[in-house]
Parts: sequence; structure tokens; C-alpha cells
Amino acid sequence: MTIETAAQAAYIVAALLFILALAGLSKHETARFGNAFGIAGMTVALAATVALAIGREIDGTGIALLVVATLIGAAIGLYRAAKVEMTGMPELIALLHSFVGLAAVLVGWNGYLHVEAHLDGAEAAVLESQGMLGIHSAEVFIGVFIGAVTFTGSIVAYLKLSAKIKSSPLMLPGKNVLNLGALAVFAVLTAWFVIDPQLWLLIAVTAIALLLGWHLVASIGGGDMPVVVSMLNSYSGWAAAAAGFLLENDLLIVTGALVGSSGAYLSYIMCKAMNRSFISVIAGGFGIEAGPAEDKEYGEHREVNAEGVAELLTGADSVIITPGYGMAVAQAQHGVAELTRILRERGVDVRFGIHPVAGRLPGHMNVLLAEARVPYDIVLEMDEINDDFAGTAVVLVIGANDTVNPAALDDPSSPIAGMPVLKVWEAEQVIVFKRSMASGYAGVQNPLFFKENTAMLFGDAKDRVDDILRAVAALQPAR
Ligand code: TAP
Repeated sequence: MTIETAAQAAYIVAALLFILALAGLSKHETARFGNAFGIAGMTVALAATVALAIGREIDGTGIALLVVATLIGAAIGLYRAAKVEMTGMPELIALLHSFVGLAAVLVGWNGYLHVEAHLDGAEAAVLESQGMLGIHSAEVFIGVFIGAVTFTGSIVAYLKLSAKIKSSPLMLPGKNVLNLGALAVFAVLTAWFVIDPQLWLLIAVTAIALLLGWHLVASIGGGDMPVVVSMLNSYSGWAAAAAGFLLENDLLIVTGALVGSSGAYLSYIMCKAMNRSFISVIAGGFGIEAGPAEDKEYGEHREVNAEGVAELLTGADSVIITPGYGMAVAQAQHGVAELTRILRERGVDVRFGIHPVAGRLPGHMNVLLAEARVPYDIVLEMDEINDDFAGTAVVLVIGANDTVNPAALDDPSSPIAGMPVLKVWEAEQVIVFKRSMASGYAGVQNPLFFKENTAMLFGDAKDRVDDILRAVAALQPAR
């Protein structure tokens, strides 16, 4: 068997492992296996690619460069992955997508420099004789376009998610016309490049795509950023697939298509969960206009201390905990799991209500609760628990804000209007754990904090949960 056929066989194995990885990652019971399949698939793919390059490469410098680049990349990847906090994952993912985009741009430019830049050269002649020159030019142009949109879009997403720039949407006048205009120009330039490939056309499309990527993501507001991250995931997949066509690498085409389609589907599911129009979000906030500035008076809020909450909890028959980003920041999940265990031992019915976009990435809360060994069967999705708040004695809102905001349902002018939320305010008593009266990720005030049946427990969520645990221990033993 030649190295070529062995590598093709290895690529098929890697592609199957990636499909198994996606299937495994779709349920938390099988997520670890999914991850293991993904790692195995990537190891096989890398080994086959390096072996193939060594088999084809006559030049020792090329092989040395490849090995050194692989080692440096692997070292940086391992270091970053080991260091990243769970709350920092979305921005890391956004940054990684920008690398895929940049790689696709470089592959596209490389394709141009080898073929279209030397139309009288050997490679162009071979393609010409096969009638493939036009297809090659289209691949170069489309690959560079998708890659450049992904590159700058991901950088803006990274800057927004890491709070290095403001997360509010950029509202340029005629923004939809700008986006649609850029797409129309791209279509015309593609046709031009296929007929008559010229350097200035490639420079123009690169510049237009870089600006479009930046504008598309800058136009999307904070609340919609989760969808943007998965949408960029999808774009990065298509960029990789385009690079796969140029490099004639089947595995890159298959993997790119898997990432592209699963990312698009995830974006669609998330849009449904947030009651957002998929088309509107992928078109850079198409049709979304800025609402009037907030100047509403909400009245006074009430406060409670840890001892008060401990008494309330031990006297309650049913409790629902709705965690959010603040629980992740405070790393309060272990204390919350301990409190859950103690209350259940005392006969209190404790359950969790998880909003589909609670935290900063899909499944964020489920991962934290599983890590703290909260039983799966008491962790319920929003749709499963939303009707039960009305019959519940106490709700603990731990570091959540936008996901429990009643304005989403009853204020049509709110930036999060229409987003489904956990109806915590229907319970008898709501306790909100946070450090201040500051707004959540979407930057909107939350009328929940001012309701009659809501009391605020200020401070770091982990410290306050620990205080409650101490206060519960000091109370009389279980009934
Ligand atoms: P947020 O609306 O961001 O609210 C989190 C709250 O936690 C804040 O109000 C903050 O208030 C509080 N907090 C922060 N650190 C804390 C600490 N150490 N102790 C106690 N409280 C703390 O979170 P959410 O309800 O989970 O909503 C998620 C939001 O993020 C949505 O708008 C969603 O669209 C967006 N988003 C989601 C994703 C995905 S896919 N899940 C990705 C990106 C963005 P203080 O500052 O006053 O403490």
C-alpha cells in the first residue's frame, strides 16, 4: 500500500470518528465519549497529513517546518486549553474561529499565487486542459471571501465577549443596504475573476470581506452573541471546506461540511430558544432597530440576609434554583450542590431550571452542575419547568439576570423582547443572588428585582451560598 492510499484510508477513519464525536456530544451522558472520539479523529488526521506530506515532500526544510509548526501549535493549544476558565470559553472559541478564517484566506491566496498569477505556467496549463481553471478561480475567490468574513467577524466577537469593546450593536445608517451591497459586489467580482483572474480583484474581495465580517458582528447586540458564536463556528466550517477543495484534501472538505452544517443547525436551535429570527441574526441584525434609551423608574428593591434565606429554605416544601453566568463566575456550583443535598435530606423538593442560553455557552450550566455531582434527574430544561414556578415556594436566582427578566415578555420595546424566560416571579418568594443592581449581559434593567415577592441577597454567590450552608447547619436538625 502506498502512503497515498494509507492516508486516504486514515482520512475515512478520521471522518467517521468526527461523526461519532458529534453524535456523542449531543447528550451529556455520552459527551465524554464524544470528546474522546474527536481527539482520536484529530490525532489520526494529523498523523496522516504529516505522513502524506513527508511522503510527497522531497525537501527536508519543508518537513522540518511542518513538524516545528505542528509542535508549536500543539503546545500553544494545550497551554491555552488547560488555562482557560469555563467562563472564558466563548471568547477562546471565537479566537480559534478567526484562525480558521485566516488559514482559509492564506490557502486561497496561495492557490492564486500558484495558478492564476502564472496563467502560462504548468499548473494552470494542467487545470486548463481538464477544464477546471474556472472552478479553481471560483474556489480561490469564494474561499478568500468566507475566510476573511470569518476572520474579522470572529475577532470582533472575541473583543465583545471579552468586554474589550462594548457589546451594544453598532447602528450604521443603512446597515442592511451595506451588507446586501457587499454581497452583490462579491457576486459580480466572482464572475469577473472566473472569466479574467486579476490580482486587484482578489485584493478588492479580501478588503470587502474583511469589512463585511467586522460590520456583520459589530451590528449584533450583546443578547444575540451566543448565536453569533455558533454562526461563526458554521462559517469557519465552510471556510475550511473551501480550503479543502483548493488543497484537494477530502478530509478537510468532510470536516468543514460537518462543522459548517452542525454550526448552522445549532445557530437555528439557539435562535428558536431565544425567539430570534435566524435570517435576521445571520444577516447582522437585519431588521433590528435600536430601541429608545431606558429611563424607567422601577421603585425600591428589598434585601435579605443569608440567615433569612436559610430559614425560608428549610421551611419550604419546594425550591427551584435557576443558575446563570454569575454562578459560573463565582464558582458557586459546589456549594449549591451541597445545599441541594442538605435540603433534599430535609425533605424539601429541590429542582433546577436551566435556560437554554444561561451562562456564556450552550450547556454551560449543565456542565457545572454535573461537575458538582447534582443528579441529572432534578436538572430540568426551561420548557419542562416553566409552568411549575407558580406552585413553588422559593426560587433561588443564582447569578442569572437576562434569563429571568419579565420585560422579555411584557415590554415590547425591550432589546430582549420576545426571548423566552424562566417565569421565576410566579413563585411565592424569589431570592436573587448578585453583587449589585447592575444589569446583565444584554445591558437591560430587570423589573424582577423590584417585585413585591423578590428579595436581593447581595455579594459573591459562592460566599453567600457558604453563609447559607452555615446558617442551615446552625438551625434545628431536620424535621
Ligand atoms: P447575565 O444576564 O449575564 O447575568 C449574570 C448576573 O450574574 C449579572 O447580573 C451579575 O450581576 C451576576 N454576577 C456576576 N458575577 C457574580 C458573582 N461573582 N456572584 C454573584 N453574582 C454575580 O447571565 P444569564 O442570566 O446567565 O444570561 C445569559 C446572558 O448571556 C444572555 O443575555 C445570553 O444571551 C448571553 N450569552 C449567552 C451565551 C450562551 S450560548 N449561553 C453566550 C454569550 C452570551 P452583578 O454584576 O451585580 O453581580
